[in-house]
Amino acid sequence: MTTFPEHFLWGAATAGHQIEGNNVNSDWWAREQQMPGMELSGDACDSYHRYAEDIQLLADAGLTSYRFSLEWSRIEPIRGHFSRAELAHYRRVIDACLDRGITPVVTLQHFTTPQWFAEAGGWSGPDAKELFVRYVAQACTILDGVEWVATMNEPNMQAAIMTAMARMAQSGGQWQSPTVEAEHTSDEESQQAARNNFLAYADPAISRTFVEIHHAAREVVRTRTAAKVGWTIAAGALTAAPGGEEKLLEIRYGKEDIFWEGSRGDDWAGVQAYSSQQVDANGLVPHPQLPDNTLVGTTFRPDSLAMAVRHATEVTQGVPILITENGIATADDSRRIAYTQGALEGLHACIEDGIDLLGYLHWSALDNYEWASGFKPTFGLIAWDKQTFARTPKPSASWLGEVARRNGLESSVVPAA
Ligand code: FCB
Repeated sequence: MTTFPEHFLWGAATAGHQIEGNNVNSDWWAREQQMPGMELSGDACDSYHRYAEDIQLLADAGLTSYRFSLEWSRIEPIRGHFSRAELAHYRRVIDACLDRGITPVVTLQHFTTPQWFAEAGGWSGPDAKELFVRYVAQACTILDGVEWVATMNEPNMQAAIMTAMARMAQSGGQWQSPTVEAEHTSDEESQQAARNNFLAYADPAISRTFVEIHHAAREVVRTRTAAKVGWTIAAGALTAAPGGEEKLLEIRYGKEDIFWEGSRGDDWAGVQAYSSQQVDANGLVPHPQLPDNTLVGTTFRPDSLAMAVRHATEVTQGVPILITENGIATADDSRRIAYTQGALEGLHACIEDGIDLLGYLHWSALDNYEWASGFKPTFGLIAWDKQTFARTPKPSASWLGEVARRNGLESSVVPAA
Protein backbone atom coordinates (compact mmCIF):
# COMPACT_ATOMS: atom_id res chain seq x y z
CA MET A 1 0.00 0.00 0.00
CA THR A 2 1.17 3.55 -0.72
CA THR A 3 0.59 5.99 2.13
CA PHE A 4 0.04 9.74 2.05
CA PRO A 5 1.42 12.40 4.41
CA GLU A 6 -0.07 12.88 7.86
CA HIS A 7 -2.89 15.47 7.90
CA PHE A 8 -3.42 15.07 4.14
CA LEU A 9 -6.90 16.46 3.33
CA TRP A 10 -9.25 14.01 1.63
CA GLY A 11 -12.41 15.57 0.35
CA ALA A 12 -14.73 16.71 -2.39
CA ALA A 13 -15.48 20.07 -3.95
CA THR A 14 -18.54 22.00 -5.15
CA ALA A 15 -19.43 25.54 -6.18
CA GLY A 16 -22.45 27.57 -5.08
CA HIS A 17 -24.05 28.17 -8.45
CA GLN A 18 -23.69 24.54 -9.47
CA ILE A 19 -25.44 23.02 -6.45
CA GLU A 20 -27.43 25.58 -4.45
CA GLY A 21 -30.24 26.43 -6.84
CA ASN A 22 -31.98 29.74 -7.52
CA ASN A 23 -28.99 32.04 -7.52
CA VAL A 24 -31.24 34.62 -9.09
CA ASN A 25 -28.93 37.61 -8.59
CA SER A 26 -25.90 36.12 -10.32
CA ASP A 27 -24.59 36.92 -13.77
CA TRP A 28 -24.69 33.22 -14.76
CA TRP A 29 -28.39 33.02 -13.89
CA ALA A 30 -28.94 35.86 -16.37
CA ARG A 31 -26.54 34.35 -18.94
CA GLU A 32 -28.25 30.95 -18.90
CA GLN A 33 -31.47 32.59 -19.96
CA GLN A 34 -29.77 34.36 -22.85
CA MET A 35 -28.20 31.19 -24.29
CA PRO A 36 -30.57 29.59 -26.78
CA GLY A 37 -31.49 26.02 -25.79
CA MET A 38 -29.52 26.20 -22.58
CA GLU A 39 -30.67 24.02 -19.68
CA LEU A 40 -31.22 26.31 -16.69
CA SER A 41 -29.60 25.76 -13.30
CA GLY A 42 -33.01 26.23 -11.62
CA ASP A 43 -33.17 24.43 -8.29
CA ALA A 44 -29.83 22.70 -9.06
CA CYS A 45 -29.34 20.11 -6.25
CA ASP A 46 -31.12 22.32 -3.71
CA SER A 47 -27.96 22.24 -1.63
CA TYR A 48 -28.77 25.72 -0.38
CA HIS A 49 -31.21 23.91 1.92
CA ARG A 50 -29.63 20.45 1.99
CA TYR A 51 -26.00 21.33 2.73
CA ALA A 52 -25.98 19.61 6.12
CA GLU A 53 -27.08 16.32 4.57
CA ASP A 54 -24.45 16.67 1.82
CA ILE A 55 -21.68 17.28 4.34
CA GLN A 56 -22.92 14.41 6.52
CA LEU A 57 -22.74 12.04 3.54
CA LEU A 58 -19.13 13.03 2.89
CA ALA A 59 -18.29 12.48 6.56
CA ASP A 60 -20.12 9.12 6.57
CA ALA A 61 -18.10 8.02 3.55
CA GLY A 62 -14.88 8.73 5.47
CA LEU A 63 -13.80 12.01 3.87
CA THR A 64 -12.25 14.75 5.96
CA SER A 65 -12.67 17.92 3.92
CA TYR A 66 -15.27 19.83 1.91
CA ARG A 67 -14.58 22.66 -0.53
CA PHE A 68 -17.52 24.93 -1.31
CA SER A 69 -17.98 28.53 -2.38
CA LEU A 70 -19.72 31.58 -0.98
CA GLU A 71 -22.13 33.14 -3.42
CA TRP A 72 -21.23 36.82 -3.67
CA SER A 73 -24.56 37.59 -5.39
CA ARG A 74 -26.45 36.38 -2.31
CA ILE A 75 -24.20 38.14 0.18
CA GLU A 76 -24.27 41.46 -1.71
CA PRO A 77 -27.49 41.33 -3.77
CA ILE A 78 -27.43 45.09 -4.25
CA ARG A 79 -24.23 47.07 -4.60
CA GLY A 80 -23.07 48.09 -1.12
CA HIS A 81 -25.90 46.25 0.70
CA PHE A 82 -24.66 43.18 2.51
CA SER A 83 -27.06 40.54 3.76
CA ARG A 84 -26.38 39.54 7.35
CA ALA A 85 -28.80 36.63 6.90
CA GLU A 86 -26.86 35.20 3.95
CA LEU A 87 -23.56 35.62 5.78
CA ALA A 88 -25.16 33.73 8.67
CA HIS A 89 -26.26 31.03 6.22
CA TYR A 90 -22.68 30.45 5.07
CA ARG A 91 -21.49 30.50 8.68
CA ARG A 92 -23.94 27.63 9.28
CA VAL A 93 -22.37 25.74 6.35
CA ILE A 94 -18.92 26.23 7.91
CA ASP A 95 -20.24 25.06 11.29
CA ALA A 96 -21.89 22.04 9.65
CA CYS A 97 -18.40 21.07 8.48
CA LEU A 98 -16.60 21.78 11.76
CA ASP A 99 -19.26 19.94 13.82
CA ARG A 100 -18.66 16.80 11.74
CA GLY A 101 -14.87 16.95 11.81
CA ILE A 102 -14.80 18.10 8.18
CA THR A 103 -12.17 20.72 7.28
CA PRO A 104 -13.83 23.47 5.21
CA VAL A 105 -12.01 24.90 2.20
CA VAL A 106 -13.84 28.10 1.32
CA THR A 107 -13.76 29.67 -2.16
CA LEU A 108 -14.79 33.32 -2.06
CA GLN A 109 -15.67 33.55 -5.76
CA HIS A 110 -16.35 30.59 -8.06
CA PHE A 111 -17.10 31.94 -11.57
CA THR A 112 -20.26 33.86 -10.65
CA THR A 113 -20.50 37.53 -9.75
CA PRO A 114 -23.54 39.59 -8.82
CA GLN A 115 -25.41 40.72 -11.93
CA TRP A 116 -25.00 44.37 -10.83
CA PHE A 117 -21.21 43.83 -10.85
CA ALA A 118 -21.36 42.35 -14.37
CA GLU A 119 -23.46 45.29 -15.53
CA ALA A 120 -20.89 47.69 -14.10
CA GLY A 121 -18.20 46.17 -16.37
CA GLY A 122 -17.37 43.03 -14.40
CA TRP A 123 -13.70 42.35 -13.77
CA SER A 124 -12.63 45.02 -16.22
CA GLY A 125 -14.91 47.63 -14.67
CA PRO A 126 -13.23 50.68 -13.13
CA ASP A 127 -13.99 49.71 -9.51
CA ALA A 128 -13.63 45.92 -9.82
CA LYS A 129 -10.78 45.60 -7.33
CA GLU A 130 -12.35 47.88 -4.70
CA LEU A 131 -15.73 46.17 -5.03
CA PHE A 132 -14.30 42.66 -4.72
CA VAL A 133 -12.06 43.59 -1.82
CA ARG A 134 -15.02 45.18 0.00
CA TYR A 135 -16.99 41.95 -0.43
CA VAL A 136 -14.01 39.88 0.73
CA ALA A 137 -13.76 41.97 3.88
CA GLN A 138 -17.42 41.16 4.64
CA ALA A 139 -16.85 37.48 3.90
CA CYS A 140 -13.95 37.47 6.37
CA THR A 141 -16.38 38.22 9.21
CA ILE A 142 -17.66 34.61 9.07
CA LEU A 143 -14.36 32.79 8.57
CA ASP A 144 -13.43 32.12 12.17
CA GLY A 145 -11.91 28.64 12.43
CA VAL A 146 -11.50 28.31 8.65
CA GLU A 147 -7.98 27.26 7.77
CA TRP A 148 -8.11 27.26 3.96
CA VAL A 149 -9.42 30.09 1.77
CA ALA A 150 -9.29 30.52 -2.01
CA THR A 151 -9.87 34.05 -3.24
CA MET A 152 -11.07 32.95 -6.69
CA ASN A 153 -11.70 29.86 -8.75
CA GLU A 154 -9.92 29.51 -12.09
CA PRO A 155 -9.24 33.16 -12.83
CA ASN A 156 -7.50 31.86 -15.96
CA MET A 157 -10.77 30.40 -17.27
CA GLN A 158 -12.57 33.57 -16.27
CA ALA A 159 -9.99 35.63 -18.19
CA ALA A 160 -10.25 33.32 -21.22
CA ILE A 161 -14.05 33.57 -21.21
CA MET A 162 -13.84 37.37 -20.99
CA THR A 163 -11.34 37.44 -23.85
CA ALA A 164 -13.48 35.15 -26.02
CA MET A 165 -16.61 37.17 -25.34
CA ALA A 166 -14.86 40.41 -26.24
CA ARG A 167 -13.66 38.84 -29.50
CA MET A 168 -17.14 37.58 -30.25
CA ALA A 169 -18.62 41.01 -29.67
CA GLN A 170 -16.05 42.52 -32.07
CA SER A 171 -16.83 39.98 -34.76
CA GLY A 172 -20.57 40.54 -34.56
CA GLY A 173 -21.28 37.52 -32.39
CA GLN A 174 -19.32 34.95 -34.42
CA TRP A 175 -16.31 33.42 -32.76
CA GLN A 176 -13.21 33.68 -34.97
CA SER A 177 -10.24 31.65 -33.94
CA PRO A 178 -7.17 33.78 -34.57
CA THR A 179 -4.95 31.03 -35.93
CA VAL A 180 -6.53 27.78 -36.88
CA GLU A 181 -8.98 28.06 -39.74
CA ALA A 182 -6.50 28.16 -42.58
CA GLU A 183 -4.86 24.91 -41.61
CA HIS A 184 -7.96 22.73 -41.62
CA THR A 185 -9.53 21.42 -44.74
CA SER A 186 -13.08 20.37 -43.93
CA ASP A 187 -15.71 22.60 -42.35
CA GLU A 188 -16.24 20.16 -39.56
CA GLU A 189 -12.55 20.05 -38.68
CA SER A 190 -12.32 23.79 -38.85
CA GLN A 191 -15.31 24.24 -36.55
CA GLN A 192 -13.96 21.68 -34.11
CA ALA A 193 -10.58 23.42 -34.07
CA ALA A 194 -12.22 26.81 -33.59
CA ARG A 195 -14.28 25.47 -30.68
CA ASN A 196 -11.15 24.02 -29.21
CA ASN A 197 -9.32 27.29 -29.37
CA PHE A 198 -12.28 29.23 -28.06
CA LEU A 199 -10.78 29.39 -24.59
CA ALA A 200 -7.13 29.01 -25.54
CA TYR A 201 -6.25 32.67 -25.19
CA ALA A 202 -6.52 35.20 -22.38
CA ASP A 203 -5.81 38.86 -22.98
CA PRO A 204 -2.67 39.53 -20.85
CA ALA A 205 -4.10 42.82 -19.62
CA ILE A 206 -7.15 40.99 -18.22
CA SER A 207 -4.92 38.31 -16.70
CA ARG A 208 -2.77 40.92 -14.99
CA THR A 209 -5.91 42.52 -13.55
CA PHE A 210 -6.89 39.19 -11.99
CA VAL A 211 -3.45 38.79 -10.44
CA GLU A 212 -3.64 42.28 -8.97
CA ILE A 213 -7.13 41.69 -7.57
CA HIS A 214 -6.05 38.35 -6.10
CA HIS A 215 -3.10 39.97 -4.33
CA ALA A 216 -5.35 42.68 -2.89
CA ALA A 217 -7.89 40.09 -1.68
CA ARG A 218 -5.09 37.92 -0.26
CA GLU A 219 -3.94 40.86 1.83
CA VAL A 220 -7.44 41.38 3.23
CA VAL A 221 -7.81 37.69 4.13
CA ARG A 222 -4.40 37.67 5.79
CA THR A 223 -5.11 40.80 7.78
CA ARG A 224 -8.55 39.73 8.97
CA THR A 225 -8.33 35.96 9.41
CA ALA A 226 -5.91 33.22 10.40
CA ALA A 227 -6.59 31.30 7.18
CA LYS A 228 -4.02 30.13 4.67
CA VAL A 229 -4.84 31.79 1.38
CA GLY A 230 -4.38 30.89 -2.27
CA TRP A 231 -6.34 30.61 -5.49
CA THR A 232 -7.20 27.75 -7.83
CA ILE A 233 -6.02 27.43 -11.43
CA ALA A 234 -7.32 25.35 -14.34
CA ALA A 235 -4.32 23.27 -15.38
CA GLY A 236 -4.32 21.91 -18.92
CA ALA A 237 -1.39 19.46 -18.60
CA LEU A 238 -0.44 20.68 -22.06
CA THR A 239 2.25 19.00 -24.14
CA ALA A 240 3.80 19.80 -27.51
CA ALA A 241 2.93 17.85 -30.63
CA PRO A 242 5.86 17.74 -33.08
CA GLY A 243 6.41 21.30 -34.28
CA GLY A 244 4.25 22.77 -31.49
CA GLU A 245 7.04 23.52 -29.01
CA GLU A 246 6.95 27.31 -29.40
CA LYS A 247 3.18 27.52 -29.54
CA LEU A 248 2.99 25.44 -26.36
CA LEU A 249 5.07 27.99 -24.49
CA GLU A 250 2.97 30.86 -25.82
CA ILE A 251 -0.40 29.31 -25.03
CA ARG A 252 0.67 27.92 -21.69
CA TYR A 253 2.12 31.21 -20.54
CA GLY A 254 -1.02 33.18 -21.35
CA LYS A 255 -3.45 30.56 -20.17
CA GLU A 256 -1.72 29.33 -17.03
CA ASP A 257 1.75 30.47 -16.14
CA ILE A 258 0.93 34.12 -15.64
CA PHE A 259 -1.49 32.87 -12.95
CA TRP A 260 0.95 30.36 -11.41
CA GLU A 261 3.41 33.25 -11.18
CA GLY A 262 0.62 35.16 -9.42
CA SER A 263 0.54 32.34 -6.83
CA ARG A 264 4.08 33.07 -5.69
CA GLY A 265 3.84 34.38 -2.15
CA ASP A 266 0.55 32.52 -1.52
CA ASP A 267 0.26 29.95 1.27
CA TRP A 268 -0.86 27.28 -1.19
CA ALA A 269 -1.76 26.86 -4.85
CA GLY A 270 -4.88 25.02 -6.05
CA VAL A 271 -4.33 22.63 -8.96
CA GLN A 272 -7.41 21.64 -10.99
CA ALA A 273 -6.73 19.07 -13.69
CA TYR A 274 -8.96 16.70 -15.65
CA SER A 275 -7.22 15.74 -18.88
CA SER A 276 -4.24 16.55 -21.05
CA GLN A 277 -4.06 18.15 -24.46
CA GLN A 278 -1.50 18.68 -27.16
CA VAL A 279 -0.53 21.95 -28.78
CA ASP A 280 0.66 22.03 -32.38
CA ALA A 281 1.87 24.95 -34.47
CA ASN A 282 -1.75 26.12 -34.87
CA GLY A 283 -2.85 25.94 -31.26
CA LEU A 284 -4.68 23.41 -29.11
CA VAL A 285 -5.22 20.09 -30.86
CA PRO A 286 -8.77 18.74 -30.41
CA HIS A 287 -9.05 15.76 -28.06
CA PRO A 288 -8.79 12.57 -30.15
CA GLN A 289 -12.17 10.88 -30.53
CA LEU A 290 -11.63 7.76 -28.43
CA PRO A 291 -14.35 5.39 -27.28
CA ASP A 292 -13.65 6.10 -23.62
CA ASN A 293 -13.74 9.89 -23.86
CA THR A 294 -15.62 11.53 -20.98
CA LEU A 295 -19.10 13.05 -21.17
CA VAL A 296 -17.52 16.45 -21.79
CA GLY A 297 -15.51 15.11 -24.74
CA THR A 298 -12.10 15.04 -23.08
CA THR A 299 -9.74 12.06 -23.16
CA PHE A 300 -9.41 9.70 -20.18
CA ARG A 301 -6.09 10.91 -18.76
CA PRO A 302 -5.64 10.19 -15.03
CA ASP A 303 -1.95 11.02 -15.51
CA SER A 304 -2.86 14.66 -16.20
CA LEU A 305 -3.05 15.42 -12.49
CA ALA A 306 0.60 14.62 -11.76
CA MET A 307 1.68 16.42 -14.95
CA ALA A 308 -0.19 19.52 -13.77
CA VAL A 309 1.24 19.31 -10.24
CA ARG A 310 4.81 19.09 -11.54
CA HIS A 311 4.30 22.07 -13.83
CA ALA A 312 2.64 24.17 -11.11
CA THR A 313 5.43 23.37 -8.66
CA GLU A 314 8.01 24.51 -11.16
CA VAL A 315 6.33 27.80 -12.07
CA THR A 316 5.18 28.75 -8.56
CA GLN A 317 8.71 27.92 -7.38
CA GLY A 318 7.56 25.44 -4.81
CA VAL A 319 4.37 26.84 -3.31
CA PRO A 320 2.63 23.92 -1.48
CA ILE A 321 -0.04 22.36 -3.66
CA LEU A 322 -3.64 21.51 -2.78
CA ILE A 323 -5.60 19.54 -5.38
CA THR A 324 -8.80 21.56 -5.36
CA GLU A 325 -10.44 19.75 -8.30
CA ASN A 326 -9.88 16.51 -10.21
CA GLY A 327 -12.49 14.13 -11.52
CA ILE A 328 -14.32 12.76 -14.51
CA ALA A 329 -17.70 13.24 -16.19
CA THR A 330 -18.96 9.70 -16.63
CA ALA A 331 -22.16 7.71 -16.21
CA ASP A 332 -20.03 4.65 -15.34
CA ASP A 333 -18.97 4.94 -11.72
CA SER A 334 -16.35 2.19 -12.07
CA ARG A 335 -14.55 4.48 -14.55
CA ARG A 336 -14.60 7.22 -11.91
CA ILE A 337 -12.89 4.88 -9.45
CA ALA A 338 -10.35 3.76 -12.06
CA TYR A 339 -9.64 7.37 -13.06
CA THR A 340 -9.21 8.51 -9.47
CA GLN A 341 -6.97 5.58 -8.57
CA GLY A 342 -4.74 6.48 -11.51
CA ALA A 343 -4.69 10.16 -10.58
CA LEU A 344 -3.81 9.37 -6.96
CA GLU A 345 -1.00 7.03 -7.99
CA GLY A 346 0.49 9.90 -9.98
CA LEU A 347 0.06 12.21 -7.01
CA HIS A 348 1.84 9.76 -4.75
CA ALA A 349 4.79 9.68 -7.13
CA CYS A 350 4.95 13.50 -6.88
CA ILE A 351 5.06 13.25 -3.08
CA GLU A 352 7.87 10.70 -3.30
CA ASP A 353 9.74 13.17 -5.47
CA GLY A 354 9.52 15.70 -2.65
CA ILE A 355 6.63 17.88 -3.84
CA ASP A 356 4.71 19.44 -0.94
CA LEU A 357 1.13 18.17 -1.37
CA LEU A 358 -1.54 19.16 1.11
CA GLY A 359 -4.59 17.23 0.01
CA TYR A 360 -6.91 15.92 -2.67
CA LEU A 361 -10.42 17.33 -3.19
CA HIS A 362 -12.38 15.42 -5.79
CA TRP A 363 -14.66 17.20 -8.25
CA SER A 364 -17.38 16.77 -7.34
CA ALA A 365 -19.29 15.87 -4.21
CA LEU A 366 -22.57 15.78 -6.17
CA ASP A 367 -23.69 15.47 -9.76
CA ASN A 368 -24.34 19.11 -10.52
CA TYR A 369 -24.97 21.90 -12.97
CA GLU A 370 -22.03 22.08 -15.36
CA TRP A 371 -21.47 25.54 -16.85
CA ALA A 372 -23.04 25.83 -20.31
CA SER A 373 -23.59 22.05 -20.44
CA GLY A 374 -26.46 21.58 -18.00
CA PHE A 375 -26.90 18.52 -15.80
CA LYS A 376 -25.83 15.81 -18.27
CA PRO A 377 -22.10 15.58 -17.48
CA THR A 378 -22.17 13.73 -14.16
CA PHE A 379 -19.03 14.35 -12.09
CA GLY A 380 -20.46 13.42 -8.67
CA LEU A 381 -19.63 10.96 -5.94
CA ILE A 382 -23.29 11.35 -4.95
CA ALA A 383 -26.33 11.13 -7.24
CA TRP A 384 -29.72 12.68 -6.44
CA ASP A 385 -33.29 12.32 -7.60
CA LYS A 386 -34.55 15.10 -9.91
CA GLN A 387 -38.01 15.10 -8.29
CA THR A 388 -37.32 14.57 -4.60
CA PHE A 389 -33.65 15.65 -4.35
CA ALA A 390 -33.02 12.43 -2.38
CA ARG A 391 -29.29 11.71 -2.31
CA THR A 392 -27.68 8.36 -3.18
CA PRO A 393 -23.93 8.02 -2.66
CA LYS A 394 -22.25 6.09 -5.48
CA PRO A 395 -19.70 3.30 -4.91
CA SER A 396 -16.98 5.85 -5.73
CA ALA A 397 -17.93 7.84 -2.60
CA SER A 398 -17.26 4.89 -0.30
CA TRP A 399 -14.18 3.93 -2.33
CA LEU A 400 -12.64 7.38 -1.90
CA GLY A 401 -13.74 7.41 1.74
CA GLU A 402 -11.87 4.15 2.28
CA VAL A 403 -8.74 5.62 0.70
CA ALA A 404 -9.14 8.51 3.14
CA ARG A 405 -9.59 6.23 6.16
CA ARG A 406 -6.48 4.26 5.20
CA ASN A 407 -4.70 7.43 4.12
CA GLY A 408 -3.37 5.18 1.41
CA LEU A 409 -3.98 3.43 -1.88
CA GLU A 410 -4.15 -0.26 -2.50
CA SER A 411 -2.67 -1.70 -5.68
CA SER A 412 -3.78 -0.41 -9.03
CA VAL A 413 -7.28 -0.99 -10.40
CA VAL A 414 -6.71 1.08 -13.54
CA PRO A 415 -7.91 -0.98 -16.51
CA ALA A 416 -6.13 -0.75 -19.85
CA ALA A 417 -7.59 2.08 -21.97
C1 FCB B 1 -13.82 23.43 -13.52
C2 FCB B 1 -14.72 24.31 -12.69
C3 FCB B 1 -15.79 23.54 -11.92
C4 FCB B 1 -16.37 22.43 -12.76
C5 FCB B 1 -15.29 21.57 -13.33
C6 FCB B 1 -15.80 20.40 -14.15
O1 FCB B 1 -13.29 24.18 -14.56
O2 FCB B 1 -13.97 25.04 -11.74
O3 FCB B 1 -16.74 24.46 -11.49
O4 FCB B 1 -17.20 22.94 -13.73
O5 FCB B 1 -14.43 22.34 -14.14
